[in-house]
Amino acid sequence: MLLHTIEEVREQVRKWKKEGLTVGLVPTMGALHDGHRSLIEKSVEKCDRTVVSVFVNPIQFCPGEDLDKYPRTLDEDCTLCDKIGADIVFAPSPKEMYGEGHILSNDFLTYVIPPYFYTDKLCGKSRVGHFDGVCTVVNKLFNIVQPDFAFFGKKDMQQLIILKKMVKDLNIPVQIISCPIVRNTEGLALSSRNKYLSEEGKKDALALSRLLLNIKVCYNKGIKDVRALAETAFSFLNEKHSLEYLEFRDGVTLEAKEVADDNTVVFVAAKVENVRLIDNIELK
Ligand code: PAF
Repeated sequence: MLLHTIEEVREQVRKWKKEGLTVGLVPTMGALHDGHRSLIEKSVEKCDRTVVSVFVNPIQFCPGEDLDKYPRTLDEDCTLCDKIGADIVFAPSPKEMYGEGHILSNDFLTYVIPPYFYTDKLCGKSRVGHFDGVCTVVNKLFNIVQPDFAFFGKKDMQQLIILKKMVKDLNIPVQIISCPIVRNTEGLALSSRNKYLSEEGKKDALALSRLLLNIKVCYNKGIKDVRALAETAFSFLNEKHSLEYLEFRDGVTLEAKEVADDNTVVFVAAKVENVRLIDNIELK
C-alpha cells in the first residue's frame, strides 16, 4: 500500500497496534537495491507489519551535494517492497514532512542535533549538518510510525552509531536492528550512489573493500598498531582514488584508536569518478 500522508500512516499503524501487532520500520531514501532488500526482508521476518519509508530528505544534503540528481525510482521501489512483503511504502513530499517553512529557511525548523563529538569526524567533517538532518528526519519517522523495531545497514556505520546514541539519549521506545553490509559478488558495498559510477569506476571502487579486507587480514595476523595497518592500505590506491579518510575508531563511541582491538571499526571514504564512496569493516 503506497501512502503519501502522515495521517494515513498513523491511522493504519493505530489499527495494527490495537490488534497487538508489532511494527518494523525501514527508513530509506529510495532507489532500493539488494542492501535495502535485506533490511526489508529482516523486518518482514521479525515483525508482524513492515513500513518502508521512501523520502529523499532535503535537510541532510549539504549545499552543492546531489539532492537534485539523487535517483528517484518510486514505482520500482514499490514493486520490490510488495514482492518482499512490506505492508506500507510511505513516500511523503518534502512539504508533508516539513511544511513550507524549511524551503524558505531551515531556521524555521526544530532540529535534533546529535553530539558534536560524534559528528565532527569522518563523514561529518566534510558533510557539515548532515547528521542533524538525518537525526531530525529519523526522529520524525519514529514519531509518525512509532515502530517497535527500526532497521539500518552497517554500510552507513557512523549514521548507525549516531542513531543508536540518539535513541538511547532521548529514550525513544524503539529497538534499532543493525544489519550487515551487502556487497556485490566482487565486494563493492551496495549503495544507491553506485549508479553514478561507470563500469570502470565500479572496478576502481573495489579498492576500498579490498584494502579494508586486507587490513582485517593483517589485524588477524597480529598487527595492532593502526599506523602500520593504515600503511598496508596505500598499495590498493592509485590516481583514480581521491582518499578523504581512512580511520580506526571505536564502534560505539567513535573515539580514535592508536592500537586496534576487536571493538575497532575501520572507516574509509574516497572519491572515484568524483563520486563519494564510503565503506567500513569491523575488526572483530
Ligand atoms: O541511510 C539513509 O538512507 C538515510 O540517511 C535515512 C536513514 C533514510 C534518513 O534519511
